[in-house]
Amino acid sequence: MAKPFRNLNRAKPQSYGVGLLVVFILVSLTYVTMSGTNKMRISLANSQLVQVVDVNYTSIKSYPSTGKEAAEKEKVVVVEKNSSAVPEEVFLPTGRTGDQGVPAVEKKPICDLSNRKSDVCEAAGDVRIVGKNTRMVYVAPPPDGNREGESWTIKPYARKWDVGSGGSVREVTLRLVNDYGDDGRCAVNYSIPALVFAIGGWSGINFFHDFGDVLVPLFQSAAPFSGEVQLLVANNKPGWVQKFRPYFDKLSRYPVIEFDEDDAVRCFPRVTLGLRCSSIEDFQMEPAKSPQGYSMVDFAEFTRSAFGLPRKRPTLLPEPLVGGEQSTAKARLMLIARAKTRRFTNVEEIVRMAEGAGFEVVVTEASDDIAKFSRVVNSCDVLMGVHGSALTNMVFLPRGGVVIQVVPWGKLDWIAGHYFRDPAKQMEVKYLEYSINEEETTLSEQYPREHAVFKDPMSVHHQGWDTFSRIFLKEQNVRLNVTRFRPFLDRARLFISQQHTQAQDLDLDQRGGG
Ligand SMILES: *[C@@H]1O[C@H](CO)[C@@H](O)[C@H](O)[C@H]1NC(C)=O
Ligand SMILES: *[C@@H]1O[C@H](CO)[C@@H](O)[C@H](O)[C@H]1NC(C)=O
Ligand SMILES: *[C@@H]1O[C@H](CO)[C@@H](O)[C@H](O)[C@H]1NC(C)=O
Ligand SMILES: *[C@@H]1O[C@H](CO)[C@@H](O)[C@H](O)[C@H]1NC(C)=O
Repeated sequence: MAKPFRNLNRAKPQSYGVGLLVVFILVSLTYVTMSGTNKMRISLANSQLVQVVDVNYTSIKSYPSTGKEAAEKEKVVVVEKNSSAVPEEVFLPTGRTGDQGVPAVEKKPICDLSNRKSDVCEAAGDVRIVGKNTRMVYVAPPPDGNREGESWTIKPYARKWDVGSGGSVREVTLRLVNDYGDDGRCAVNYSIPALVFAIGGWSGINFFHDFGDVLVPLFQSAAPFSGEVQLLVANNKPGWVQKFRPYFDKLSRYPVIEFDEDDAVRCFPRVTLGLRCSSIEDFQMEPAKSPQGYSMVDFAEFTRSAFGLPRKRPTLLPEPLVGGEQSTAKARLMLIARAKTRRFTNVEEIVRMAEGAGFEVVVTEASDDIAKFSRVVNSCDVLMGVHGSALTNMVFLPRGGVVIQVVPWGKLDWIAGHYFRDPAKQMEVKYLEYSINEEETTLSEQYPREHAVFKDPMSVHHQGWDTFSRIFLKEQNVRLNVTRFRPFLDRARLFISQQHTQAQDLDLDQRGGG
């Protein structure tokens, strides 16, 4: 009898830590289904595969949006809303009115430490913030009760469960005090609230963490203030804020303050320490748990607006004629080639095939010049790439565009799903997933077919993060079988033409309703 958890402690989860962990759990479930105690988690795992459409040689998995159940129940801070305080310009999802705006803070300061992804404190009243050396947020205790001296120390970075990520993030303390001592003299008085958060951790390491750990939570935390908020950035990394400047400019009208270097005592009427996450999953949101009802569709819309991206909808393609010729109208496909790991070895062949399938192809590597690169992504209808952080660029696609994730060999379904399939669904881009076979991985040149890499990939997962990532994420390149892959491009084209008619309907509905 296998003991699936035996090697768990040897795993060193890094960026894909949780992915691996749950892979282990899911695998272990196959051994313990009879016990019945884990039924709920089994059904959760299964509910991800909603519909499987067979097309020719292989199968295309299609995942229509479904309500996303969270594996854990989170405790959410309930804050009162003051809808009369909503300024005109508050960023709101299109067509949404009413339940919105900046929530009022409860009188007593709250640090909610119950969320698996982030700790968040909210306080109103006499707030004094000192970044340099002390890393303190002082708040006058509420008049009722004797809470003087109470304090909370948190890392204001939204990847709490990941010890490796948080390691580089320094703690900030919120303390209730009446006598501020030397920290009492306000060098600057503000009438706007403060938002203190860190960008250390894995942000800057890759695009997925930039978004999952910081930008998506930052959007949820800062957007309700509609620009009237002072951002204080701890653990700043040179160039990072600059790189994502359009977000910062749209989220706050005031220049960012570097918390770690700031020795002024700054006084605010209100503070949020840490970033809110309505979902415990990275690069995802749960609108029902957000006071504003924010969704990933809103985040994508906010992103297109911040970066000034012109295309809200994909290219207008006529519906293909049944049994007839394909239209000559071209859709645009972005092919992310990747240069180092998990790269396509036959890019030219893929391009020729895609052109034959009616696409104009843009071959790229994700670039650090996001202002420029986001425009190129937005000019495309389909984003295609091997599993990797560059797929995060889906956030720049027009709504209703298509993402094709090519999943490498090695039973990578969990990370493929949680990191890109579910977020794509939430952003309402269409999603196609192509899993390569043994013929298409270059691992076949390094390992014989009898090797566990082919015969039992899960046993490689069980050897821990280092081995798993070395073999399946680093050593592997993809030699795409263009014959086998072709139906996916046909499907993508079909999605685009269908999306467009749906989008037109939607626009009409909105005009009719507003
Ligand atoms: C593959 O699919 C296409 C389009 O759906 C169809 O015309 C063709 O006959 C199919 N080929 C096979 C071998 O099933
Ligand atoms: C709500 O906001 C309005 C307008 O800013 C303000 O006058 C009012 O005092 C606020 N009410 C509460 C309960 O905070
Ligand atoms: C800030 O406000 C406090 C209290 O009103 C006042 O004593 C202090 O002088 C103000 N500081 C500045 C720089 O205006
Ligand atoms: C590519 O895929 C097709 C369809 O599955 C298959 O017939 C063909 O043998 C594959 N080619 C290679 C080189 O594996």
